[in-house]
Amino acid sequence: MVLRFHNVRKHYTVAERRIPALDGVTLHLDRGEYVALVGRSGCGKTTLLNLAGAADLPSGGEVEIEGVRTSSLDDDALTRLRRTRIGFVFQLLQLLPTLSAVENVELPLQLAGVRNARARALRMMDLTGIADLADRQPRQLSGGQMQCVAIARALVHDPGLLLADEPTGRLDTQTAETVMGVLIDIRRQLGTSILMATHSPAAAAAADRRLMLSNGTLVPGESLPPRL
Ligand SMILES: Nc1ncnc2c1ncn2[C@@H]1O[C@H](COP(=O)(O)OP(=O)(O)O)[C@@H](O)[C@H]1O
Ligand SMILES: [Mg+2]
Repeated sequence: MVLRFHNVRKHYTVAERRIPALDGVTLHLDRGEYVALVGRSGCGKTTLLNLAGAADLPSGGEVEIEGVRTSSLDDDALTRLRRTRIGFVFQLLQLLPTLSAVENVELPLQLAGVRNARARALRMMDLTGIADLADRQPRQLSGGQMQCVAIARALVHDPGLLLADEPTGRLDTQTAETVMGVLIDIRRQLGTSILMATHSPAAAAAADRRLMLSNGTLVPGESLPPRL
């Protein structure tokens, strides 16, 4: 099992006010599974993904990544876990503007002190179908191309778990489909598990399972919301 949530609660505190975000979420993700996370804005999807990627810790309950309870780790161990086992793709612009595409892709390898970073980055860009974009700056790329670079970067260190937060949210339908196709294809080749928050009916339909969040809790049963 790649990921397990047991009765996970999360609240934020802003100006001494408690803002609940997740309220007792229990879920699991098997190796190689693609699970879509759906639900309205503000229902807790990003919070859930941050906990799943050890970018944040639960207020209560347990999050386990590949059998390791995130609350049991110190900051160094959490950073190591994130850098070695997790890949993130976000909706918003996320490439470093002063680096070329291939330099962006090799960044996680540089951070992890891996040798042959450039060659591995180029291989991943090849798999993602964007090898010809290696030397471009982000401002010279289309939105879809940028997301493909972001996907290559998220997968370059061969993480067990890819977390994606509305990765096609800023793209037109056609480009979104292309980017999703790249993701699904590459998952088949690498066997990466994917947990993806999405408002795209097509992306949700392509998943092995759908989890629907509503006000910080999972709606029981596999479900698609009436309105995405
Ligand atoms: N850093 C934060 N500080 C305070 N409240 C937050 C923070 N992040 C999210 N929230 C609140 O937590 C709830 C869940 O938000 P979020 O996880 O971003 O939902 P979604 O991604 O589904 O839109 C919302 O009420 C939101 O306002
Ligand atoms: Mg969100």
